[in-house]
Amino acid sequence: MTRGFLTAVILGLSVIGIAGQQAAADRVPLAEQVFKNIQVMQGVPADQFMGTMGYMSNSLSVNCTYCHLGEGGGGWAEYARDNDKKITARRMISMMNEINKTYFGGRRVVTCVSCHNGANRPRVTSNMSVYYGIPDTDEPDQILKQAPGSPSAEQVLDKYIAAIGGAQRLAALTSWAARGTHLAYGDAEKRPLQIFARAPVQRVQIEDTGSGTATIVYDGKAGWSAVPDAITPLPLRPLTGAELEGARLDAALAFPGQIKTALTGWRGAIPATMGDLDVYVIQGAMAGNVPVKLYFDFETGLLVRQIRHTETPIGRNTWQIDYSDYKEVAGVKMPFKWTFMWQSGKDEVELTDVQPNVPVDAARFARPPQ
Ligand code: HEC
Ligand code: HEC
Repeated sequence: MTRGFLTAVILGLSVIGIAGQQAAADRVPLAEQVFKNIQVMQGVPADQFMGTMGYMSNSLSVNCTYCHLGEGGGGWAEYARDNDKKITARRMISMMNEINKTYFGGRRVVTCVSCHNGANRPRVTSNMSVYYGIPDTDEPDQILKQAPGSPSAEQVLDKYIAAIGGAQRLAALTSWAARGTHLAYGDAEKRPLQIFARAPVQRVQIEDTGSGTATIVYDGKAGWSAVPDAITPLPLRPLTGAELEGARLDAALAFPGQIKTALTGWRGAIPATMGDLDVYVIQGAMAGNVPVKLYFDFETGLLVRQIRHTETPIGRNTWQIDYSDYKEVAGVKMPFKWTFMWQSGKDEVELTDVQPNVPVDAARFARPPQ
């Protein structure tokens, strides 16, 4: 079993409220109200708490079982039990908070990643492939300005709008309904998926997980994630913060004629390479000033990647979506495939049928039932 698999199964699509915690529907409870043995992360909202678990796993490149030994045996109760690794991790969280408080004025600048960077024991040697230039990514973490000789962010967006059909055809697309499949990380078989979208910013994605339905929905203002309780301790939760803003962005990108106003403070472009593809990278910000990077194919002008983030108290999680297989729907080019990668999994979505401008009932975007 690969190490990402268990994480993906446990966190599912997104984490939220615990089974039976019906009141969690509109306000996320605190970790200590939901879980049994919370010592150093008291006061952290339960959904962010689950985000920290994904973040620690990612930072050390380990599975949940590395710190929670009895997984698969004792069920969720096992997670409350202490052991050496879990106690060490607790000391690490206190140490990290202490370093940031004492030496960085309380700013969260030193994180698990600063020291561990994918290893359970931090390296004590330098990395020669990084040092001698075999980079895995070639653009800076934050884009500050337009590179000399590159187009402006606005020009990249104009080229994209023209490439997918032009403003007029984009404005004429006001709803769509799609069917397809998704392949969750570690799963052998693809399962059915449906998406409904209504302009300007409503979108719902409904997936069969094999152990129930998972729904992620944005109604134009609020959003929810509902995941079967077999695969997460927080089955129904309202989306908040950067995760809510991310759901809004995905809904806006369902009707990409409005892309320019979907984010603010555009920066770039800078040229970069993604494997053997030349791309322009631009950056915008969601509400709360959380950066989003968008990658456009140099030649075709099409959007090929989105990278955004969500916050946890101990670090910033990365959400990446790679788009491909553009096909025309009512004269508008839409990606029929994408890969969604986040702290606890990778989901490959493939649309088989998209129906443009069909009536979509408002009830589709309502809060999912418990
Ligand atoms: C690096 C070690 C580490 C890893 C990896 C880790 N955890 Fe934890 N986990 C902890 C620590 C430490 C606590 C207790 C936090 C506290 O006391 O504030 C905890 C507590 C929990 C709790 C609360 C249990 C209770 O009732 O008190 C749950 C649930 C949990 N973890 C789930 C997970 C899941 C799911 C994963 C994998 C995505 C995971 N953890 C990965 C260290 C880890
Ligand atoms: C300032 C650097 C630093 C930071 C920040 C840091 N660690 Fe560590 N961590 C270490 C070092 C160094 C060791 C190895 C200690 C040793 O070898 O005795 C270690 C060891 C560990 C171990 C035990 C590994 C093993 O195999 O026994 C765990 C678990 C761990 N860290 C989790 C975390 C988590 C989770 C975070 C973030 C909340 C974190 N660490 C942040 C430096 C750091």
